[in-house]
Amino acid sequence: MSLQEKIDVPAHVAIIMDGNGRWAEQRGYPRVLGHRRGATALRATVRACAERGVRVLTVFAFSSENWRRPSSEVGALMQLFLQSLRREVRRLHEAGVRLRFVGERGRFDPALQARMAEAEELTAGNERMTLVVAVNYGGRWDIAQAARALAGEVAAGRLAPEAVDEVALARHLALGDLPEPDLLIRTGGEQRISNFLLWQLAYAELYFTPVLWPDFDAEALDRALAWYAGRERRFGQTSAQLQESARA
Ligand code: IPE
Ligand code: IPE
Ligand code: MG
Repeated sequence: MSLQEKIDVPAHVAIIMDGNGRWAEQRGYPRVLGHRRGATALRATVRACAERGVRVLTVFAFSSENWRRPSSEVGALMQLFLQSLRREVRRLHEAGVRLRFVGERGRFDPALQARMAEAEELTAGNERMTLVVAVNYGGRWDIAQAARALAGEVAAGRLAPEAVDEVALARHLALGDLPEPDLLIRTGGEQRISNFLLWQLAYAELYFTPVLWPDFDAEALDRALAWYAGRERRFGQTSAQLQESARA
């Protein structure tokens, strides 16, 4: 990849990894096999993103609404999650990837919670890329927990109500210390956010592809990155203004 192309690589890519179930059903397999293949696709995508210079990759692995699925599927997903943590953490650590989990963790099995904490601790010093895994995550939950934290500070007298603004709220969000996503990719053909990063996606470029998540690979990633590189991000300004400041 040329230097010129590298300039347009998004610093933060977020992915809604959708379509595992359909991938399996189309082949007459149980849905859980689709989730397993999805884990494989994630491994390849993490590597490809790191190679391309992405700084933060945030993936939606399990939404706060996914508990509504049949208990057998939820159970299989929890198993797969635990197994993936056992298998992948060392490899990620060796690759210089920092792991973080966002979401309401209290609902998970204590063994799983412990594994998540261990993985975060082990990889905390890594700087090549940050991989954020959203589990039992909901965008509304995130905003509500940030509001609750601010309310606590106000009640304790540490924060004036007038100081509650966008910056203060953003700081308390789950990804408050990271840059906002530049590019959101959703696989599986649906064109919706499904309660993912509601606040943080305010100015992300949204890329929807019919590719089912288990089929997502480096080539599919490069198509998304090429599309992103062709966007003009105006953040409310006019195209002429942007061109002028680029010349200055
Ligand atoms: C995404 O794939 C994985 C999770 C939501 C856990 P799905 O399981 O939603 O796959 P489809 O959308 O049913 O094909
Ligand atoms: C979104 O996919 C959540 C994840 C990919 C983890 P869903 O398959 O749960 O979304 P909906 O239900 O189709 O909106
Ligand atoms: Mg789905």
